[in-house]
Amino acid sequence: MSNFNDLFCISMAFLPLFNTTNETTADNQYNTIAKKYSELVVENNQDSITAYFRCLDIPMNGKSVLDLGCGDGYDLSRIKLKGALICGIDSSQEMIEIAQQKNPEGNIKIGYFDNIPFADHSFDVVISKWSFQQSMDIDSIYREIARVIKANGQLVYLSAHPIRQFIDKKRTGKDYFKKEIVEAVFFDGQLREKSPSHTMNEYLSPTFFKFFILESYEEGNDRGAEKVDGDIYPSYFIIKARRLP
Ligand SMILES: C[S@@+](CC[C@H](N)C(=O)[O-])C[C@H]1O[C@@H](n2cnc3c(N)ncnc32)[C@H](O)[C@@H]1O
Repeated sequence: MSNFNDLFCISMAFLPLFNTTNETTADNQYNTIAKKYSELVVENNQDSITAYFRCLDIPMNGKSVLDLGCGDGYDLSRIKLKGALICGIDSSQEMIEIAQQKNPEGNIKIGYFDNIPFADHSFDVVISKWSFQQSMDIDSIYREIARVIKANGQLVYLSAHPIRQFIDKKRTGKDYFKKEIVEAVFFDGQLREKSPSHTMNEYLSPTFFKFFILESYEEGNDRGAEKVDGDIYPSYFIIKARRLP
């Protein structure tokens, strides 16, 4: 038990380091595990991939599409089959290299959610999957998307469900509302990711509604998520929204 408390205290001590622009723990994590993640992701994330691409069943031919936290570029390689002009950013150099190999025609760059290296009003569609949970400040992502997306542009993203992050606190006396670094174990225990916990309030925040109209919300369970005490819980949610003019 004391191990968990120790881990928690250490995590909290590092909390201020986790988010800031151009400096995240996330990029270090994914540099180390990029290759393995890329080998395992499609097989292990089938449930969320299927749900996400169902939401992405929108006209993309000739549209400029930006993937935030594009990882190994799997999603971009599917989007381009729909005729989209593909761009992506990720904080991990290792991930970017794999994504660029898969998508030589894509404009894929190192970049951070809170400082997106593209001009204002560049994109018809902004997408993201399994990435926003790693940011400390979800509102800063919305502000940047609002800047780079066109008026009436479409935002579709999937993120780790706050209930999953609550379960990832993995101790008794958990506090849903308290921001902590949690460790998600996934792909049958083969990979781990640390991220700051979030509440649903942070995702459906006043900043979100300042810039976007919510078009749909759905939540689901991906079998690639950790089984904790046999609990069945939503491991992800998907938001579809449109930029207000
Ligand atoms: C779990 S992976 C998801 C990759 C891909 N979207 C997928 O669904 O397989 C999360 C990705 O987000 C990236 N990432 C995390 N924080 C980031 C940030 N602040 N800015 C840009 N990329 C970030 C990581 O480097 C990693 O590649």
